[in-house]
Amino acid sequence: MKPIATIRTIGHFLAVSLLAYPAVLFAQEAELDFDYFKNEVQPIFLAKRDGNVRCIQCHTRSSGFRIQALQEHQLFWSDEQSQMNYESAIQYVLAGEDPLKSRFLTHPLSVDAGGDPFHGGGKHFHSQFDPEWRIMADWVAGAKTRREPSEIAVRIIQTNAAGDDSTVIDPATNEVVGRITDIEIPHGVVGAPGGSQVYITNEAMHSLDIVDARTLRVKRRIPLSGRPNNVAVTSDGKKVYVAIMEMPGSVDIIDVASMSNVKTLPVNGAIHNVYVTPDSRYAVAGSIQTRTINVIDTRTDEVAWELEMSSGIRPMTFDTKADGSTKNIFVQLSGFHGFAVVDFDKRQEVARIEHPAVPGEEAHLDGLQGAPAHGLAVSPDGKTLWSTSKVYSHVYIHSLPDLKEIGRVFVGQHPEWITFTPDGKRVYIGAAGDHVTYSVDAEKMEAIAMIPVGQVPKRVATVLMALD
Ligand code: HEC
Repeated sequence: MKPIATIRTIGHFLAVSLLAYPAVLFAQEAELDFDYFKNEVQPIFLAKRDGNVRCIQCHTRSSGFRIQALQEHQLFWSDEQSQMNYESAIQYVLAGEDPLKSRFLTHPLSVDAGGDPFHGGGKHFHSQFDPEWRIMADWVAGAKTRREPSEIAVRIIQTNAAGDDSTVIDPATNEVVGRITDIEIPHGVVGAPGGSQVYITNEAMHSLDIVDARTLRVKRRIPLSGRPNNVAVTSDGKKVYVAIMEMPGSVDIIDVASMSNVKTLPVNGAIHNVYVTPDSRYAVAGSIQTRTINVIDTRTDEVAWELEMSSGIRPMTFDTKADGSTKNIFVQLSGFHGFAVVDFDKRQEVARIEHPAVPGEEAHLDGLQGAPAHGLAVSPDGKTLWSTSKVYSHVYIHSLPDLKEIGRVFVGQHPEWITFTPDGKRVYIGAAGDHVTYSVDAEKMEAIAMIPVGQVPKRVATVLMALD
């Protein structure tokens, strides 16, 4: 049952100034949609904005606009609580009217931007084009779903393993264009294929955090069965697989549409990294503790086969056959300075490549955490395999399928994960020891920028992000 508040506005015209947000021009009969309020507006009450207290910190005790308190470890409101929040919020809303007539919208909005003079909770939004304020204004105007983005762009997201943030980089300029905050110990990151949101595993709260691409705020934290490591998404965007780094071992499967953790699949060993194969037919999960690669069938979400290797499973990547199915798994192993090759059909190791020392380069043996080589990626055209060495501060480039070394690039202290831009022209590598992300020209095989990011950058991913 959906509670609905309706107000008719007859022949309502508004003189629009350049400052004003024009949502009202489209509203003839506005309904205050409950699902939109629940999933899009409510996250704003939980979000931490720089310099502001979260709305929920004050309004659980308010006699006016009242937000239901969350129990300890409760990460989001139940439907019943959401309904109570909704009923309280609509007291301060004039549906379909000029947004500046709703106290709900004017109270947290700066005076300069059209807000009212005083809010005991301070001013949270400084423009009517603030993406969070727009979400609220669209709700007041009758929105049932988020508006379509006018622009979607490629972004590189670098999570900072010892930071409380993730850095958003524009690969067209190599500039930092945003920061995702409020996730302490972000681990892995992947993007929704359509660009609406990104998924970041939160080691501190044991949650999968959904980050809205347009606001860069955490939109929902989904409770996990244990402490997470890396994360992967299917190419249709419907399912997210989360590595749970706790024995005896599991992978949590998240249904994106309902934003819920629908299955905790037992696997062999605590899982460090999980990947979805390029054809999305399998999720491949590796354990350091049991040295096992677990291959999960994504149609049944059951383990299809497993393979024990000589030592712990570190980063993996894949190449494909002409039909798009998986040909090999390339895998880095604990204590091995290079990578192994596993034939996907034969389900066995078929080759091993050790990276040679780099003449003149001092070997780093401190702080390797058991993994001398810890970053692997295949170029989008399938012609090269890139593998980082923490020992020699280089990325080694091999041709495929013959696995001949064709080049090396210095990429800073303790280089880690690797990601390509979709056009294959740029490679981004987190240099954990230098607190920068390297941008490498893939064709020339030379570093072209060192982008300052946060503390100990490791996991890095290429995503699409809706900008507006
Ligand atoms: C630091 C505490 C604090 C925070 C944070 C805070 N508020 Fe308030 N809010 C108040 C107080 C106190 C009042 C009552 C006095 C007033 O009208 O300003 C109030 C009033 C309101 C009102 C008018 C209805 C009422 O209860 O009187 C609305 C609507 C409102 N706040 C929305 C918000 C929203 C939305 C946020 C987050 C974006 C927020 N507030 C954050 C303290 C806070």
